[in-house]
This record gives sequence, C-alpha cells and structure tokens, in this order.
Amino acid sequence: MKLLIGYASTEGQSRKIARHIADKLMDQGHGIELLSLEDAEGLEPDRFDRAVLVASVHAGQYRKELSGFASDHRSWLDRHPVLFLSVSLAAAGHEAEDWRGLERIIDDFAEVTGWTPDRIEQVAGAYRPSRYDMFTRFIMRRIIASKDPGADLESDKEYTDWAALDRLIDDWMGG
Ligand SMILES: Cc1cc2nc3c(=O)[nH]c(=O)nc-3n(C[C@H](O)[C@H](O)[C@H](O)COP(=O)(O)O)c2cc1C
Repeated sequence: MKLLIGYASTEGQSRKIARHIADKLMDQGHGIELLSLEDAEGLEPDRFDRAVLVASVHAGQYRKELSGFASDHRSWLDRHPVLFLSVSLAAAGHEAEDWRGLERIIDDFAEVTGWTPDRIEQVAGAYRPSRYDMFTRFIMRRIIASKDPGADLESDKEYTDWAALDRLIDDWMGG
C-alpha cells in the first residue's frame, strides 16, 4: 500500500511520531512518503491509498499548514482512509475539561477547513524546555508543575506512549 505520512510540528514531537509510523510501515513493506506539510505545495495525493496526518496543538490550534493542506485536499481526504493524530499535552492527562477542549479544537478545525477526519486519535506529546524561548519556558514550566508535579522542570520529557501508538497503527491498517 502507498501511504502519505504528513506532519505539522513546532518543537519536533509530531515529526518524531510521524517518522516512527513511517519507519514501522516501511518495515512492513509499504511505500511511504514522509512529508512536512509546510512542503506540500504541488503534492498529488492521488498517488496514495491512505494517509496519516500528525499535528500538534499550540495555544488551542494546529499549525496553519495543516489547515491549508486539509482545505486544499478536502475532496481526496473525504474519499480515502485518513488517520488524524492530534498531539498535545492535554492528552497526557485525564482532566475532563482538557479533553473537552481537545474536542472543541477539532470542531473548530473541521469548521474552518470543511473536512472532518474519519478517524481521530488524541496522542500525548512532550515537554521540551530545551526548545522553548524564555517566555514559553516560563509558561510551560507552570503548566507542567501543576499537571505533573513529579516532573523535573529543567529536563525534556516525553509523554507519548509508543507501544499504544504501535497498536493504534496496527488496528487502523487492519481495519
Ligand atoms: C507555546 C505552546 C503552547 C501549547 N499549547 C497547548 C495547548 O493549547 N493545549 C495542549 O494540550 N498542549 C499545548 N502545548 C503542548 C504541545 O502540544 C506539546 O508540547 C506537543 O508535544 C508539541 O508537539 P510538536 O513538538 O510537534 O510541536 C503547547 C506547547 C507550547 C510550547
């Protein structure tokens, strides 16, 4: 099968997740294109049978290249199996209000682009102080200190559950 694995990432965790999926599916013999959605101009999606899109949430929204891609290729996306992975820190926790917020972000995205992904999964991302500017580090430290009191605020920390991600991909490919 030929798959497009597209990502929209700011600090690199969605890219890492996309690459992990690409490596896994390549090992299974599938044809893969791993693409930053920033570089999607001129892409001809008809070459692909399926797609995985991976995008992170920053301040309640996805990067604009994801919305641009979804709007540009809406008709292809509607006609093919697409797995949309929404990467966030809210998905690392169990707070009902945070999860409702994630649903609202998807609803807003669907309204703006006119495309509702047929399968959406929430994936826990990462805390990466090594990649934040001073202001972002200040904000993120406060968020992590309240959400994960045991975390070392000076060190990067991945919340992504790689084994669960592998199971999800196996399930989606089998379905
Ligand atoms: C400036 C900033 C804003 C963020 N806003 C949110 C948010 O609104 N909701 C959320 O759940 N996570 C938020 N996060 C956490 C990111 O979604 C998380 O760190 C993710 O792993 C980033 O993925 P990326 O490295 O692919 O960009 C934010 C992170 C940063 C640095």
